[in-house]
Amino acid sequence: MSRLSSTNLAVSALAASLAAPLRVGLIGFGCVGQGLYDILRQRPGFGAEIRRIAVKNPGKPRSLPVEAFSFQADELLHDPELDVLVEVIDDAREAFRLVSTALRQGRRVVTANKAMVAQHLPELIALEREFGGTLLYEAAVCGSIPVIRTLDAYFGQEPLRSVSGIVNGSSNYVLTRMGQDASEYAVALVEAQQQGFAETDPTLDMAAFDPRSKAVILAAHAYGALLQPEQVLNLGIENVSATDIAYAAVAGQKIKVVAGLYLLPDQQLTVLVTPQLVDPTSPLYAVDDEFNGVVIEAEFAGPQFLRGRGAGGHPTGSAVLADLAALRANQRYAYAKLAQPELTYTTDLEIEIYLRTDDELLLDQLGFTDITEEADEDGYIVGFVPLDALIQHRDRLRTAGAFIARTGNVRPATHATEVLEAASAV
Ligand SMILES: NC(=O)c1ccc[n+]([C@@H]2O[C@H](COP(=O)([O-])OP(=O)(O)OC[C@H]3O[C@@H](n4cnc5c(N)ncnc54)[C@H](OP(=O)(O)O)[C@@H]3O)[C@@H](O)[C@H]2O)c1
Repeated sequence: MSRLSSTNLAVSALAASLAAPLRVGLIGFGCVGQGLYDILRQRPGFGAEIRRIAVKNPGKPRSLPVEAFSFQADELLHDPELDVLVEVIDDAREAFRLVSTALRQGRRVVTANKAMVAQHLPELIALEREFGGTLLYEAAVCGSIPVIRTLDAYFGQEPLRSVSGIVNGSSNYVLTRMGQDASEYAVALVEAQQQGFAETDPTLDMAAFDPRSKAVILAAHAYGALLQPEQVLNLGIENVSATDIAYAAVAGQKIKVVAGLYLLPDQQLTVLVTPQLVDPTSPLYAVDDEFNGVVIEAEFAGPQFLRGRGAGGHPTGSAVLADLAALRANQRYAYAKLAQPELTYTTDLEIEIYLRTDDELLLDQLGFTDITEEADEDGYIVGFVPLDALIQHRDRLRTAGAFIARTGNVRPATHATEVLEAASAV
C-alpha cells in the first residue's frame, strides 16, 4: 500500500471515530448528572449519547421513567458497549471504587469528585499509566472555569509564581451577603441554603475542606506536587462575624476564602486555604456571590485571571461536556510538571493573620512572633504566627470560636523581617 493511501485510511478512521457518537454511561443523576443530560439533549449534534444511567435509590421520584435507570452502578462498569463512564455521585469512597475499577479496565472516565481525586491522585495517575485508560476531572475544580486544562496544557512548561483563587462558591456567597447586608454568618448561611448555594450540611464548604481538595488538585497540575490534603492548612468561615467584615471594610478590603499556591525562593512551594483580607487592586475582590475566580501569575505570561460559575448543574455539566470532547479527541492530562525537578513543600513559614478570639490559651498556643496591631476591646490581634502552629491547632481554632484571616504577608520562619513577594500577591 502506498504511503498516501495508508495516510488516507488513517484519516478516514479518525473521521469515523469522531463521527461515531460517544456512548456514555452516566453514574449519578443529581445536580451534575441531570445538568449533563440536559446539555446533551440541547446539543444533539455534539456526538455523545447517554446510553445508560445508574442511580442509588429505587424509590426516588425522577424526571425520567424508572426504566431509564439501573440501580447497580457495577452493571455499567461491566458493559462493553459503553465508550466512556461519567462518575458524578456524591459518595467519595464509592466514587473511588468505581473510578479505580474502570481505570483498571483501561476505560475512559470523567469524574467531578474533587474529594476523591485529591485523596487518591497518585494512585489514579498510576492506574491510568499502567492500564492505558484516561481520567479527566475539569468539573472537580471551579465548575465551568477551564483552570485544570489551562494549567496542565497551556502552562505545562512555564514556571508559575502563584495560583490563587476563590474556588468555593458557597462560602463566597455567604461572605458576599454578610458584606452587603451587614448580616451575621448564621443568617447569611440560611439564605445561601435557601438559594441552593449551600448544602444542608455546610461543613465541607464552610470549614474549607472542599477548597482544600481543589488546591491539592491544582498543585499537581501547576507545580507537579502530589500533596495529601492534610498537609495543607484549611481555615474556614464558620466563626466569621459582622465585626470581622467591618474590620476589613474600614481598610477598604473584603474577606474572601482564598486557596493560595505560592512558589517561594529555593524551589519551595507552600499551599494555604484560609480567609484572606483582599484589596480592591486584586481581581479576586470583585468575585462575588457564588462565582469563582483564579489568578495565575506566570513567569513569562504575567498575570492572568479566570472567572466564572463554579457550581450548578449546567456550569458543571459544561465542564463534563468539555471533558467528553477532549476524550473524543484522545486528549489526556500531560502532568508535565510531575516530570520536572521536584519542588520542596514547606510549612516552615510565618503568616501574618488577623485573629479574633477571647481565648487567651489559644494566643499562647499560636505563639505570635511579632504583633502589628492589637485592639483589646474588640478582641482582635494582628501579627505573624508560625504556619505550623496554625496547622497544629486548626481544629481547636474551629471549636474555640476563633476567626482568622490572612493579611497576605508571608515570610520565612527564620528571617523575621523579609516578606516573600510571591506569597504576598493575591
Ligand atoms: N453540584 C455541583 O454544583 C457540583 C459542582 C462541582 C462538582 N460537583 C461534584 O459532582 C458530584 C455530584 O454532585 P451532585 O451535586 O450532582 O450530587 P447530588 O445532586 O447529590 O446527586 C448524587 C447522585 O449520585 C447518585 N448516587 C449516589 N451514590 C450512588 C451509587 N453508589 N451508585 C449510583 N448512583 C449513586 C444519587 O442517586 P439517587 O438519585 O438515587 O440519590 C444521585 O443521583 C460530587 O462529587 C460533587 O462534589 C458538584
